Amino acid sequence: MAFTLNEWQRRAREGEFGEPVEQAMGILMELADFWGAERLIPIRKVHMPGASAKTARRAGRKYIKWCADMGARFVTTTTLNPGAADLTGIDIGVTRETMAQQMEITESYSRMGGIKCHTCTPYLVGNLPRFGEHVAWGESSAVVFANSVLGARTNREGGPAALASALTGYTVEYGLHLDENRIATVQVEVTEDVGDTCEYGSVGYFVAKRYPDAVPVFTGLPARIPQYGLKAIGAALASSGSVSMFHAVGLTPEAPVLEAATRGGKLEKIVAGKKELEETRRFLDRNDQEDVDCVFLGCPHLDYEEIIRISGLLAGRKVSSRVALWLFAANSTWQSCERSGLTRVLTEAGAQLISDTCPSITMFKEIMASKGFKSAATNSGKLAHYLPVWGMPTHFGPTIACLEAAVSGKWRP
Ligand code: F3S
Repeated sequence: MAFTLNEWQRRAREGEFGEPVEQAMGILMELADFWGAERLIPIRKVHMPGASAKTARRAGRKYIKWCADMGARFVTTTTLNPGAADLTGIDIGVTRETMAQQMEITESYSRMGGIKCHTCTPYLVGNLPRFGEHVAWGESSAVVFANSVLGARTNREGGPAALASALTGYTVEYGLHLDENRIATVQVEVTEDVGDTCEYGSVGYFVAKRYPDAVPVFTGLPARIPQYGLKAIGAALASSGSVSMFHAVGLTPEAPVLEAATRGGKLEKIVAGKKELEETRRFLDRNDQEDVDCVFLGCPHLDYEEIIRISGLLAGRKVSSRVALWLFAANSTWQSCERSGLTRVLTEAGAQLISDTCPSITMFKEIMASKGFKSAATNSGKLAHYLPVWGMPTHFGPTIACLEAAVSGKWRP
């Protein structure tokens, strides 16, 4: 073994704190061995992937329940990624069986101390690491946001590793926890004006398709880029590749200037201009039908600024009776919006405000079967990447085109 356990870790490995903690230490030690890590590092925050019946599957569900039944408790702030169903009672069309499985997973995590926020934007609901803080997060879009926008440090943790970290308060020191792996590897000059979620997603998708393992550094992004822009770039980077971190000069904390991100190294430079972004948008628009019967916004889950913008665009409009407009956000985000009267415009227009889940991380085929969806539209590069994988033809375009499609039932970007 390449490292020495401290006193607590040794006692944990010997089973003094119960079998789940003993096994958790075993998982971390195996990972450390695999990655050649020299030590485990203490952490206070975990974001738990594998919180959905779809991703945990039967084995994961049983293991999580066993840990909870054994009395295991999380020692970190532990937020849950989206699950397979809306737990507030909105019927998105999953089967009773899926619903029961999801309740079991949520309940098991909750008994261990997990926070039932079921969102991919944990940083919007209080799991907010400080600059330089080491954490153990899963969920690719959240991981990119943590590393890039917050300047926290995490690898893209899988379910077992995140569970092990939540039970022990340690993660393995390798990958993006180390300075040398956070240095930019390619420079991307954005020469086109970008402003919509779909345009930011196109930027990310374009880069990761060419450099799936890169740490890109962007120049030329708008100085007043909104949070949702950074969120969309990161989510698309992580879906078309395995990118887990980017820099944006003058915008992200480890890139006040280009040289800070490159550490003075000379990088290959590519351009993301009008032609590249338009080609990317067309590539992701994988639906040849004009009729649309479902529109999905909120991948990653919506923040306040996006909700305010969508409310403005929908004010006084009515969603077609032939179309489902589903908006996804954390439940606490919807609650705050409701208290402020912000959701009234949306519900009066006929939008469904959905929490705890998303089309990609639920049993989407069950939804297609029960709701009869055949043709989708979204402004999310990540969702446009994944929905066709589940068999759903999906248009990808600007937010305004998506909302027009919701109102008219036609895709006319
Ligand atoms: Fe979040 Fe689901 Fe998109 S987990 S990033 S809304 S695919």
